[in-house]
Amino acid sequence: MRKKVTRSEPGRAGFAGRLRRHARAAATCARRRLGDAGMRDMPPWILIHCFAVVAGRRHQGGSKPVRRLTDRTEARLASGAATGRAGRTSRTVADLLRLDQAYCDFRCRPEAGEAAIILPPSDLAPVFEPLLQPSRYKGAYGGRGSGKSHAFAELLVRRCVEAAPLRVVCIREVQRSLDQSVKRLIEDKIQALGLGRHFRVQADRILGPGGGRIIFQGMQNHTAESIKSLEGYDIAWVEEAQALSIRSLDLLRPTIRKPGSELWFTWNPTQASDPVDALFRGGPPPPDAALVRVNWSDNPHFPAVLQAEMEWDRARDPDKHQHVWLGGYQTLSEARVFRNWTVEPFETPADARFLFGADWGFARDPTVLVRCFVQGRTLFVDHEAHQVGCEIDRTPDLFDAIPGSRRGPIIADSSRPETISYMQRNGFGSITGSTKGAGSVKEGVEFLKAHDIRVHPRCRHLIDELALYSYRTHPKTGEIQSELEDRDNHAVDALRYAVEGLRRGGYDSSMKWV
Ligand SMILES: Nc1ncnc2c1ncn2[C@@H]1O[C@H](COP(=O)(O)OP(=O)(O)OP(=O)(O)O)[C@@H](O)[C@H]1O
Ligand SMILES: [Mg+2]
Repeated sequence: MRKKVTRSEPGRAGFAGRLRRHARAAATCARRRLGDAGMRDMPPWILIHCFAVVAGRRHQGGSKPVRRLTDRTEARLASGAATGRAGRTSRTVADLLRLDQAYCDFRCRPEAGEAAIILPPSDLAPVFEPLLQPSRYKGAYGGRGSGKSHAFAELLVRRCVEAAPLRVVCIREVQRSLDQSVKRLIEDKIQALGLGRHFRVQADRILGPGGGRIIFQGMQNHTAESIKSLEGYDIAWVEEAQALSIRSLDLLRPTIRKPGSELWFTWNPTQASDPVDALFRGGPPPPDAALVRVNWSDNPHFPAVLQAEMEWDRARDPDKHQHVWLGGYQTLSEARVFRNWTVEPFETPADARFLFGADWGFARDPTVLVRCFVQGRTLFVDHEAHQVGCEIDRTPDLFDAIPGSRRGPIIADSSRPETISYMQRNGFGSITGSTKGAGSVKEGVEFLKAHDIRVHPRCRHLIDELALYSYRTHPKTGEIQSELEDRDNHAVDALRYAVEGLRRGGYDSSMKWV
């Protein structure tokens, strides 16, 4: 019996890998039911046979040097088997290296009659070059418009030709329809590379040369059972991988198990805790990983429209710029509602026209009263009263901590009419309930955002809330939504109520401080 050549022998894996990517060699392996066995562990005589088939077809009957080489190697293997040395002579290994060289030469010289697909020269941005070598893991991360999707689509199409037949799955965490996939991008790339006649685009997949295929799937549609259908795939490309859950990552990695198979990831970093970031950047990267960081400046095709967007963010919003365009992690400040505020001491003018706002507490929430006044476009907040779990009969005392609160006017959360009534009967006759309605919170917040807010340092709860009050972020994608988080908003709510009259036009604009 012939013994396998071990992996450590020089040239062995490279020759096998390269040969395996050849359509005819792969087909020969498949015919002999060796398609999934993996070239690395394949006996040399199979390699020789595959090469002879490939070379023989190309040279219509076989090229003499190649034939001699394969015959000689095979003979040595056979004699090794006969003597019980299992064909592992150093001369056989040397022959394998020569076979490898012959195969490289052969690939470099396509001849007429051979249906070799000629690929156009690559114009891949230099930053992506580390990804050209075979690697178990390939990743590209960075800011918007850095060319990640285009580069991977091109690498993929090229590989589908060079290593045909190739089975590829393009994955997203959530894919409700093919419109959300990279199918269109790959189709465009096929056209741009002039390879249209070698691929067939079908409704849900793209068929590649030599019987290859590219399919598009969402991880959320997979179960531990169904994912097994991907076991024979050569490449899995996860696009927008920042949204990949740990469950999906843990399902995918052991599923893509074919010898020489690769896992590709492209993503825009959001949080260091995202599974893809933790895998590649949380510590030492996984073995055999090629990872590149890319940004807009690495993209020679960066379009003018994105350039304008990027420059606008850079001038206006450094936090956003570093996250969106430079691929930094999203900081809390990015989702923050208020940026238009400062903390500094100020003297309250004697004749300021005060506005008060109140929010009622529950068991764990604070009751809050704030006092503010307006000067031009600046909203000054000079006092706050804040107590968690304040009983109703303690509330007048709490409010009395702010000078002038009994004179008001106070606008309070209208959800507690009994508390408002209690306060009216206990010396706070100018208190009224806020007007609630669809969009009133958002409108109130926008009104506050339209002012410069100056907060006196003693209003420390309001200061904390202004720093923390945030928009909701999507739990999976991390994307910032337009809804407001319903937390860190008690003093902010009180401030919103305080200016409600002003917002609704009830404020006397002839007043001195307006
Ligand atoms: N090879 C290319 N040929 C032509 N245009 C390209 C190429 N690569 C990138 N571009 C241009 O650059 C833009 C950004 O590229 P791409 O969409 O690949 O970036 P990205 O890093 O995936 O961005 P995002 O993070 O927004 O998904 C594209 O919309 C396209 O206009
Ligand atoms: Mg992209």
